[in-house]
Amino acid sequence: MGAAGADPNGGPAHLAAPADRLRAAAARFGTPVGVTAVQALADAAGELRAAFPDPWQRAYSLKANDVPAVVERLAALGLDANVVSRGEWAAARRAGLPNRRVTLEGIGKSAGDLRAAVRAAADGVPLRWVAVESAEELNALARLAERAGLGRGGRPPLDVLLRLNPDVSPETHAGLAVGHGASKFGMTETELSAAVAATPEAGSLAIRGVHLHVGSQLGAVDAWRDAVRRGLALLALLAAGRPGMDTLDVGGGFPVGAPGAVPTPARFAEEASRLLASIPSARLPRRLATEPGRFLVARAGLIVARVLHVRERPGWGRVVVIDAGMTELIRPMLYGAHHEIRALTSLGRSLDTGALRASAVDPARVDGPICEGTDTFGTHDLPPIRRDDLIAIAGTGAYGASMASTYNGRPAIPQVLLEADGSLVLGRPRGHLTGR
Ligand SMILES: Cc1ncc(COP(=O)(O)O)c(C=O)c1O
Repeated sequence: MGAAGADPNGGPAHLAAPADRLRAAAARFGTPVGVTAVQALADAAGELRAAFPDPWQRAYSLKANDVPAVVERLAALGLDANVVSRGEWAAARRAGLPNRRVTLEGIGKSAGDLRAAVRAAADGVPLRWVAVESAEELNALARLAERAGLGRGGRPPLDVLLRLNPDVSPETHAGLAVGHGASKFGMTETELSAAVAATPEAGSLAIRGVHLHVGSQLGAVDAWRDAVRRGLALLALLAAGRPGMDTLDVGGGFPVGAPGAVPTPARFAEEASRLLASIPSARLPRRLATEPGRFLVARAGLIVARVLHVRERPGWGRVVVIDAGMTELIRPMLYGAHHEIRALTSLGRSLDTGALRASAVDPARVDGPICEGTDTFGTHDLPPIRRDDLIAIAGTGAYGASMASTYNGRPAIPQVLLEADGSLVLGRPRGHLTGR
């Protein structure tokens, strides 16, 4: 784990939904079931908007959770979309977002992804921009854009940002730190400047600015501030000779955690404001953008699971096996993420939060059902529990459903929205038992 407070679980110590609603979700849709509390999405979107008000552009990074019903709700809350593939782009479209509100970035863009971005521009419905990772990718995109006649005969060029590797030391889990110099993401200042110099100013691509992302679940603001400072300085330098470069996208990375344990979006915004205040107004970027994922969805999501086995193991004590595991939430296995687990029933009796506090709890290791020894959620305090009891795993809204797999022939779990009035709405049905 990285800096203090940078718990990569992204899960705060409370349930975003009342226990009775979670039990109702299990009764109606079966287990395991993913539940997203709509009110928690709205709260997070409101907090982000308050920290980064207009004219900041706020996009939701779909990689955190691409469940269509969740994307739709965030789009309805006014968020644009940040996507890394045609698959995520299609999810943004299904959520009603026009291309001008969608940005495409990512280290893994395929030739098909680039072709689709160029085709959309040629059809007169361009994406807001494509953020490019390397000189090779820029050349490939330019060749496609050239062939499609962009930038000629009344067809506007395709807007492009260049991703900077900010070469900072992100205060987060090593697996979530992407802004360090050795990472595969983005270009060095030298590479980026050379890419700008090699791109004609009035060609098929319009280089509009700089994109960066430091890492996810940032436990402090320092690396982010350093990265934004570098981005702003490089942009100012390049824009001096190229006035069309007017945009800085500062990526995502805002963490979630217990109040006071991690910096809020407002703290990050305060750092950005300080940096921007030190720049003469004539040299300020005209467009500023942010694209968080985790902050918007992590706390809203839970997984309700059912107990399959309870056994005593020498040296460990109680070991509980549940019907959700690394196939539904791989983060504990991938990053050692700790997600709080609460019992919703004990020996068949319903528990509410008050009763749970009052009841006797003992540590138990909670393991998933997958045929891998590493499929575990770690140790949690649980009351007396037996087969068929229900538990809730908290803070699973980010990088849960979007990282799910069908290993062991397990279908994708149903995704349910918990509306503000307490009703449950199926957002995505359970996948099929046969086939992927
Ligand atoms: C370029 C970029 N932007 C935004 C995000 C979203 O990050 P987070 O979910 O931490 O806000 C990521 C996450 O990997 C990313 O790589």
